[in-house]
Amino acid sequence: MAAGNATVRRFMVAGNWKMHHDHLQAIRTVQEIGVRLPPEVSSRVEVVVHPPFTDLRSVQTVLEDRAIPLVLGAQHCAGADSGPFTGEIAAPMLARLGVRYVLVGHSERRQLFAESDEKVAAAHHAVLRHGMVPVLCVGETGAERAAEETEAVLERQVRSALSGVDPGQADLVLAYEPVWAIGTGVNATPADAQLGCAHVRRVVAASLDEQAAQRARVLYGGSVVAENTAQLMAGADVDGVLVGGASLQADSFCAIAVAAASVPVH
Ligand code: PGA
Repeated sequence: MAAGNATVRRFMVAGNWKMHHDHLQAIRTVQEIGVRLPPEVSSRVEVVVHPPFTDLRSVQTVLEDRAIPLVLGAQHCAGADSGPFTGEIAAPMLARLGVRYVLVGHSERRQLFAESDEKVAAAHHAVLRHGMVPVLCVGETGAERAAEETEAVLERQVRSALSGVDPGQADLVLAYEPVWAIGTGVNATPADAQLGCAHVRRVVAASLDEQAAQRARVLYGGSVVAENTAQLMAGADVDGVLVGGASLQADSFCAIAVAAASVPVH
């Protein structure tokens, strides 16, 4: 927590499964997480899974039936609420399934599916409009970093998605994910993670207001594993981690949640 401010932000560990695990594998994975996740960890840290769309209904049912303390997330949604958009999924459909968090603007969507800042902003608004919480992913590429454009890129991406958002909005989550660190095994240093997350928070303050910035949770993502989680979360502005590869297996994902729970509250 920043000096002089009374907001306590609950740590969050979110697993982005990307295009892995069909619904049967998904059921097995969340059941195993339910068995392995110590109750004292899930009470300290909010643990979220973001399975593919086809898994959501099955996972929702298992979490509810077995009272597994995981929160349901999705990986993407459309900006429109309905319409002739073949292949897209609308925010109200996700809300009906009990989804609480939706990844917005993940770098793979931006790079591989040509999602512009405008499309990302439309999805961000759609998620908020339907009472869910967007996890806005931002981050610089290796080339942008080499050109010392990191801060400018983060500023552009955050400002664009937050434009028109009500500062009183209860819950915002952002994820600083340097693109060069995603799926590469090369994670940012804890100092870089803190710098990136702090900058994201400053841009939230400038775009909305200081209170919204202090309430917002900012995660770090990019090659997070259990062994580096506590160091990466040591920075005062790093409120958790967004995990890809290491979230696919219950044991590695639970180990990350345990590590996150060991970090003193900022
Ligand atoms: P990674 O992916 O943990 O496999 O690097 C992170 C992400 O894409 O969110």
